[in-house]
Amino acid sequence: MNLILLGAPGAGKGTQAEVICNALNIPAISTGNIIREALKNGTETGLKAKSYMDEGKLVPDEVVIDIIKERLTKDDCQNGFILDGFPRTVPQAEALDKMGVKIDKVIEIYVADETIQKRLSGRRVCEKCGASYHTEFKPSKAEGICDVCNASTVIRKDDEPATVLARLNVYHEQTAPLKGYYENQGKLVTVEGQEEVAETSKLTLKAIEA
Ligand code: AP5
Repeated sequence: MNLILLGAPGAGKGTQAEVICNALNIPAISTGNIIREALKNGTETGLKAKSYMDEGKLVPDEVVIDIIKERLTKDDCQNGFILDGFPRTVPQAEALDKMGVKIDKVIEIYVADETIQKRLSGRRVCEKCGASYHTEFKPSKAEGICDVCNASTVIRKDDEPATVLARLNVYHEQTAPLKGYYENQGKLVTVEGQEEVAETSKLTLKAIEA
């Protein structure tokens, strides 16, 4: 099954992508994670993306489209995949269609902007393996230390309050129009993000099975 997860920054796409990945045994592909990894490794893509990302802006379409084109050719995508954070603009969705990639369902995770600001201010990520935590909703066992690899957990640079606001504006202007795009294709299903991650996961898996 080929799926897209749509939603504002901090709506819980990454969290749900991990749940679906485990439940359906298909890879979760996050353009955000791929770009952050490129940045860490100082590659050309990483350098091109840095200033945009730090300001909460979208990285240019051609950069992310190339990333996805390459990633989808990998063997692990043959039985399906979950796209987390791609497409983010109508031209990116059109590029996916032009590549001949058939999408079965688009799951929108809806969460109000005020809740998002609270969620992102508490998010901590492992600087080594990227595992994600929340100071209130999903704390690591020892404060500031990753449960998976024992490295330090840090605040993501683009989770600073002013940058979160910029990311929300970009979402409403450039990404939200994708809802209409996929509604017209009869593929959009909306899941209301719940206070408990497990509750949202139940609704997400139900939406995929329906
Ligand atoms: P990206 O990494 O994709 O960031 P994002 O979409 O802003 O998404 P986030 O990772 O912030 O949030 P999420 O929805 O995955 O939420 P999460 O599950 O972590 O992109 C970063 C940047 O890269 C972009 O700004 C852009 O510059 C660039 N980029 C990437 N893709 C691009 C593209 N296609 N085109 C152009 N540029 C691109 O949850 C958030 C927090 O809430 C966590 O702490 C979590 O524990 C908590 N939480 C989750 N669910 C719940 C719940 N149900 N109850 C309580 N807490 C919860």
